[in-house]
This record gives sequence, C-alpha cells and structure tokens, in this order.
Amino acid sequence: MARRFHFWTRAFILPVLIVVLATAFVVVAGGSTVVAQEPRDSAPSDEDLGPPAEVEVVSQGRVANLAPRPPLTEAQRQEWAGRLRRLYATAPEVWPAAVVDSSVTPVELGLLPEMPFPADNPYTPEKAELGKLLFFDPRLSGSGQIACATCHDPELGWGDNRSTSFGHDRQPLRRNAPSLLNVGHAKTLFWDGRAESLEAQALAVLVNRDEMRGDPEAIERAVEGVPEYRQRFQRVFGDVEVGFDEIAKALATYERTIVGERSPFDAFLKGRQEALSDSALIGLHLFRTQAGCMNCHHGPAFTDDAFHEMGLSNYGRRMEDLGRYRVSRDPADVGRFKTPSLRSVTSTKPYMHNGLFPLLGVLSMYNAGMPTRRPNPAQMEDPMFPRKSPLLKPLFLNDQDIDDLVAFLESLEEPLQRIRVAVP
Ligand code: HEC
Ligand code: HEC
Repeated sequence: MARRFHFWTRAFILPVLIVVLATAFVVVAGGSTVVAQEPRDSAPSDEDLGPPAEVEVVSQGRVANLAPRPPLTEAQRQEWAGRLRRLYATAPEVWPAAVVDSSVTPVELGLLPEMPFPADNPYTPEKAELGKLLFFDPRLSGSGQIACATCHDPELGWGDNRSTSFGHDRQPLRRNAPSLLNVGHAKTLFWDGRAESLEAQALAVLVNRDEMRGDPEAIERAVEGVPEYRQRFQRVFGDVEVGFDEIAKALATYERTIVGERSPFDAFLKGRQEALSDSALIGLHLFRTQAGCMNCHHGPAFTDDAFHEMGLSNYGRRMEDLGRYRVSRDPADVGRFKTPSLRSVTSTKPYMHNGLFPLLGVLSMYNAGMPTRRPNPAQMEDPMFPRKSPLLKPLFLNDQDIDDLVAFLESLEEPLQRIRVAVP
C-alpha cells in the first residue's frame, strides 16, 4: 500500500503540490493571506470532533502548514479508535457532527431506505424477472452481440472495470461505465444527469449509435420472435405484442432490484460493532470530518445527487468533456459531473467519469485539493472557463490517514454476485 501510494505521490501529489505551493507563495508574497487547516501534532483531542481549527498563514513568503499532519503512534491510534468506537456505537443521528462547508447541509450516512418504484411502472416479480432476462440478452443490440450486462457486469461490481467501455463495433466510448448497484435511488442518470428516469435511460442507450445501436422495431421483432418472451410479456403487460416502452419498463424494474445491504458498513450500522476494523472506523470519522468527503458524498447512498467541477474536465484540450453543461447549457456547469455513490466503490475501478484513475490516485488528488487549472491569456475573459468547486481544499492527510480512508471505502464493498441467466 505504502509503495503504491508513493508512486501516486510522485505522479500526482508532487506536481499538484508544487502548483499549490507556488500559488500560495505568490499569494503570501503579495501580502494577502492563505487559509490553511492546522495539522494535528498529537493524539486527536475532543476538539477534533468539531470543525478543524483554521489558521491564517501570514508568514512572509514562507508557507507554513502545507506538510501532512504527523501520523499517530500505535498507542495513540488505539486510544483514538477506542474513543471513536464509543461515539459511533450509537445511531447515526447522534454521531459526532459532520464537518462540512457552511453552504452544505449534509444528510447523515445510514442504511438505504426501501427502493421506491414509480406509480406508472410498479414492481411485480414477473416484470423484474423479464427485465433480468432482457438485461443479459444481446438480442437488444444492433449487432446482436452486446447486452446491458456486457458493460454492467455483476461480477465486476456492475461496471466493466475498464477506463471507458467499448460500444458497438468495439468503438471506444468517452466515459466510464458506472456501477448500477443501488441505481434506482439516483435522482438523475448518466455522469451529466441527462436522463431523469431509468425507463428513459434504457430507451436512450438501446438506440444510441455508439453504444448498442439498436433499432426499436428490429428489437421488438427479435424479442417477439421468442415464444418464451411472448408468454412473459403477456403475463406482465397483458399483451403478446412486444413494445419498446415495455422493454424499457421491464429493464428499469429489474435495475431497481439491484440493491446492496450486505457490506461490512451496513452490518456495522445494524449494530455489529466488529464489522469495522479500527482502521476503517478511523477512516469513517476522517471521511465525515477532516477529509471533507461529506460535503458531497453524503446520505445513505453517499451522494448529494448534485454536480461539481473537480478540475478534471480537460477544458480546451483533446480529452475535453463539458459534463453537465451539455445538458443545461449554463456556463456555470462547464466541467461539472454527478457525484457518484461510493457504495461498493472498491469493486468498480478505475475511477472518475473518464476512468483514468486508480483509487489511490483519486485520494492523492483529493489530498492535494484536486488539480487547479489556470486560464491561459486567451482564456482570461472566457465565460466558459471551468471553475473548480470551492469545496475542494488541500487536506494535509498523511499516508496513515489515506490507508484509513481506503479501509473505510473497502468496508462499503458488497459481496460480488455471480448471476447465471439462461436467456431464452
Ligand atoms: C457499451 C457499454 C454499455 C452498454 C452496452 C450499456 N451501458 Fe449503461 N452505461 C455505459 C456508460 C459508458 C455509461 C455512462 C455514460 C454517461 O454518463 O454519459 C452508462 C450509464 C448507465 C446508467 C446511468 C448510471 C448512473 O449512475 O448514472 C444506467 C442506469 C445504465 N447505463 C443502464 C444500462 C442499461 C439498462 C443497458 C442496456 C439496455 C446499458 N446500460 C447498456 C455503458 C454501457
Ligand atoms: C466537491 C464535491 C466532492 C467532494 C468534497 C468529494 N467528492 Fe468524491 N466525487 C465527487 C464527484 C463530482 C465525483 C466524480 C468526478 C468525475 O467523474 O469527474 C467524485 C468521485 C469520487 C470517486 C470515484 C468514484 C467513481 O465511481 O468513479 C471516489 C472514490 C471519491 N469521489 C471519493 C471521495 C472521497 C474519499 C472524498 C473525501 C476525501 C471525496 N470523494 C470528496 C464529488 C466530491
């Protein structure tokens, strides 16, 4: 772990930190102040359970406090973990307050509620079963080769473990395939939120030329040509005729059954204290406090269902992805992407909308406050130039802290599912 982190330290943190340091130096030398969080130098005190202390760095030209805080000794860690165990043995409502920006109202972490089903597409077991068959059936694609499960594979955490997926004719797609675990709880779909319901999302991907390149009528005919499907459609929808909308409704119903509640963190929430190791418990507290993750990854699904600019849009470069802007056409949304859920995140590498980062790379970037891009002279007046979320700040975490955060994220992992489907 430490070796891998050092690689990322060299590859990411150092360049980013140099930029941060250089910027801070300029700001400090220019006479203004830089606000930085104070690193801890001893075992955390009770004050650490509240908002972290903020100090103003006003030293002339020298930037203080940008080094990671010192690690704890083994004895300090044990004492700290013991204290956290007592605090977190309670219901989430009485956990120590999460530390977030004053603009954010975090919803507490917790067990996921029961899955909601829309009134115009209620749950029936037969419909979910039909949707499951369709989800694994390559008949739904123009080539007859690609099923939903090709890119959303339950054995790969409902993603495809690729940076970006291959679509029709093995064309590389531009974005990483998100996990579908708990997707029925999402308020909007796709990295830019361009679909509002699972039904609409399914219709979009089936006919997308780059993805499944299906033709609605051809798909209807292919499915209708299978006697078992005709019977199942009749049982579910009361009609032997197979309609494209019904295919989407069945797929969406199946997707709403893809839920997880068997992670160690869920077991912990249900009262099984030993389900979280000391490291994971310390990581949980870091996640909710010093690391600032609850600014965006909050609530039972670990997402605020909002869009943020993380400095990763590659604006003006070859890999540019304007994100939410492509849907809203609001310049403020350039480069903003949807906050993904973090449940079972450790089984869906690689990460971010472009799938370019391993987990330690992501955490290293967070620790450095994420990349900051400065406009070049031609971009100075550009109203489209993306502005990084003000919620992202350098965190001053040390290797031990990063390991604890990883241990916590690992505790969100569901047992992988191997699903065998006999497509008719
Ligand atoms: C070729 C690979 C591929 C196939 C096949 C595929 N998907 Fe996807 N899926 C993706 C990618 C890539 C994205 C993200 C695209 C984006 O955000 O622009 C995505 C996004 C989604 C989302 C949004 C998830 C979220 O959290 O926002 C859902 C739901 C989904 N797919 C369901 C399906 C269903 C249902 C099918 C079959 C009808 C399907 N997908 C077929 C690659 C694929
Ligand atoms: C300002 C809001 C914000 C904060 C704060 C934040 N995240 Fe994120 N997180 C996001 C967004 C948005 C993405 C997707 C970005 C993209 O794809 O470009 C993301 C992506 C991730 C991913 C990749 C998930 C995937 O499926 O690709 C991980 C892991 C992650 N965050 C963990 C964390 C941790 C740990 C923290 C605290 C150190 C944190 N995040 C803090 C908004 C945030």
